[in-house]
Amino acid sequence: MTKSLVIVYSCHHRNTERIAQVIGHVLDAPVKRPDEVTPEEISGYELIGFGSGIYHGRHHESLLSLADRLPGGTSGTAFLFSTAGITGGAKTARDHSLLREELQAKGYVIAGEFSCKGFNTNSFLKYFGGMNKGRPNAEDIQRAEKCARGLVKDYLTEQ
Ligand SMILES: Cc1cc2nc3c(=O)[nH]c(=O)nc-3n(C[C@H](O)[C@H](O)[C@H](O)COP(=O)(O)O)c2cc1C
Repeated sequence: MTKSLVIVYSCHHRNTERIAQVIGHVLDAPVKRPDEVTPEEISGYELIGFGSGIYHGRHHESLLSLADRLPGGTSGTAFLFSTAGITGGAKTARDHSLLREELQAKGYVIAGEFSCKGFNTNSFLKYFGGMNKGRPNAEDIQRAEKCARGLVKDYLTEQ
């Protein structure tokens, strides 16, 4: 069985979907939407990635709801990823906090967190051509690949 799974919700410009595909490729993992997986199925994976755009300061509701429905007392390993209009240390940590805390409460160890900027035409921004045009860019993709390679090295056991 495949050891890792990437779950992504990406509705605005599919920015986070691009990151998910890159990570999924490196991990040799299927990439699925939250509505395509069940909590029971998730428990069978060694390493699970949860990602979405950041909407109103948090991951998408469908991911938070999925995390909420996961069985407790697990010893699984998870990682978080996102794209957002504004990223950076404390802001990203805050944006990730709800999902992180939900997963930790279920017993997951958080192996890593990745974030990069994503094209954003939310609200009034659409009248000005949006912000972060062209993001994720090649450098963001490279950073995501590097992050995923680190996860393989540190968290996936030999086949
Ligand atoms: C309804 C909505 C709310 C958003 N809220 C935030 C936010 O709170 N903080 C932020 O940095 N970006 C915010 N953004 C920008 C998105 O996080 C960004 O465009 C992201 O790359 C979208 O990812 P997606 O294309 O995978 O859906 C918001 C975008 C939308 C459409």
